[in-house]
Amino acid sequence: MSLRIDILTLFPEMFSAILGTSIPKRAAEKGLVEYHLTNFRSFATDRHLSVDDKPFGGGPGMVMMAPIVFDTVAHVEQLDTRPATRILLTPQGRVLDQPLVETLAKKPRLVLITGHYEGFDERIIDGLAPLEVSIGDYVLSGGELAAMVLIDAVVRVLPGVLGAEEGASDESFTGGLLEYPQYTRPRQYQAMDVPDILLSGNHAAIAKWRMEQRCERTKKRRPDLWQSYESGKNKARGDDAAGG
Ligand code: ADE
Repeated sequence: MSLRIDILTLFPEMFSAILGTSIPKRAAEKGLVEYHLTNFRSFATDRHLSVDDKPFGGGPGMVMMAPIVFDTVAHVEQLDTRPATRILLTPQGRVLDQPLVETLAKKPRLVLITGHYEGFDERIIDGLAPLEVSIGDYVLSGGELAAMVLIDAVVRVLPGVLGAEEGASDESFTGGLLEYPQYTRPRQYQAMDVPDILLSGNHAAIAKWRMEQRCERTKKRRPDLWQSYESGKNKARGDDAAGG
């Protein structure tokens, strides 16, 4: 069964470029994912079609109103029997990383709740209990771009989306390390040569060199990742020892 992704937004038109291009598009064409866009505005009930209002207690900006979001989520969820994982995009959420992407890719259905204004009425979070997800420690003007980032990252790891030759097994974060450097033709360019080892035809030596490069890069550029990688290795060793 394919993954169903529902996107709840005030700006459905923002998504067409991403969902209609490249890998997200191909995944849908292969029947591995379906995208469904729903506009919160359709669930507005007053004559101004309001979806947000001024915050109680004062302060800048507008806040997404709870009834609109509850009604939209209820309507969308009853369109399909697959159990939904609700996700609200917010800079206050858990920061998206590759392990979370892999977890989300195993779900049958994601309901992404995006807001374009100052924030959400807290009762939306209390009442709908979504997983709150951030794509990094910076503030976007809305959750839409964050939702697109999440969709792209999730869809490309769905089984069957990438062909064997594009396989994602060596890339950054797989196994907790950054990627090794890559080269293609020409062999020499502006006095920068391709490392000899890659032209040696010695596959074992190439694999060893690549692994060393991954470790070196990760150590230098992402000491935080390197530390987790090292402690993961030590933990595995400890477990082996305990088991043996
Ligand atoms: N909405 C605004 N900024 C965001 C961020 N960094 N991640 C997710 N949603 C957001």
